[in-house]
Amino acid sequence: MGCCCGPLVGAGAPVGHTYSRQAFPRPRKEPALSPLVGVPEPVTVRVPAKINLYLGVGPLRPDGYHELVTVFQAVSLYDEVTASPARTLTLAISGEGAAELPADQRNLAWRAAVLLAERTGVEPAVHLDLAKGIPVAGGLAGGSADAAGTLVACDALWGTRLSRPELLELAAELGADVAFGLVGGTALGTGRGERLTPVLAGGRWHWVLGVAHGGLSTPEVYRELDRLRAATDPEPDLLWDQPVAVGPVNRLINALRLQDAEQLGRLLANDLQPAALSLRPELRQTLRAGAELGALGTLVSGSGPTCALLARTEEHAVRLAAAMAGAGVCRTVKVVAGPVPGGRRVET
Ligand code: C5P
Repeated sequence: MGCCCGPLVGAGAPVGHTYSRQAFPRPRKEPALSPLVGVPEPVTVRVPAKINLYLGVGPLRPDGYHELVTVFQAVSLYDEVTASPARTLTLAISGEGAAELPADQRNLAWRAAVLLAERTGVEPAVHLDLAKGIPVAGGLAGGSADAAGTLVACDALWGTRLSRPELLELAAELGADVAFGLVGGTALGTGRGERLTPVLAGGRWHWVLGVAHGGLSTPEVYRELDRLRAATDPEPDLLWDQPVAVGPVNRLINALRLQDAEQLGRLLANDLQPAALSLRPELRQTLRAGAELGALGTLVSGSGPTCALLARTEEHAVRLAAAMAGAGVCRTVKVVAGPVPGGRRVET
């Protein structure tokens, strides 16, 4: 499809930037106090999973990350982070895959609370409860969602009142996908994925997620991609040329804007998919079943192993999910829709 239609990304300045490290000392606004006991009320934040509709991976950078051009979409599958007053930092995890996750400083949510406390000069005194709805290590940015939710929840609990750009700066320090967890919607990501520009994605998009048994380690999948590239090309860096990536990305963004689901299905692409399939060959069956059962497009989500299948309508998604469940090619299936907003406080 030709690409001739003006600017394809949404109006407004990029919502993610590269920032210098800095502290944000400020007078604190007193958080809401419980009328009964005189302590701040717990704060709950709901944060969505993401899928990458396009993921172009460039060369390995000196900082250990790869240059990316990606289109994220936040979908209706959530983790909830509740921050409650406590004397020290503690973490509890419940729900989907909770037992597989560390409840200490190795957890990105823990590190998010520590980073916010350090930068604002407060004690990291909070009890964090993570209620997992996003499959662990599934390529859906569940860990990043928890970190994004922790930033928003602790900022409210501690009354530190960071601005949006300040929160985005901390998010970008924590990981490549954390800023998108704050922003949500549909966005173009560049750099490590943390520089975000909103994309106009009209309408509602319906997806079936094929959730696999077990997870995949994101660094391992990137390493496998480097290995595969090195095996086929002695100078893999030469494969990356941003202007080459821009054509397909613009076509995909155009399909989103025009709500052309057939076209979007054809344009879904993920450079990490060969690496994920190399580590987990059985995912080919999931993708093949999705295509045979009528998905408009199929791809591995991010570093996998979750597979995302595009449906025409919500009703089509429900039928496709039932057929996928019957085919027995994944652990479980979920029907989701996007775009949805990023991490938001919810009343409990
Ligand atoms: O930032 P995040 O913790 O999500 O990244 C996990 C790992 O994935 C990084 O340590 C890196 O090995 C790999 N990665 C990458 N390039 C990116 C994003 C992630 O190589 N743009």
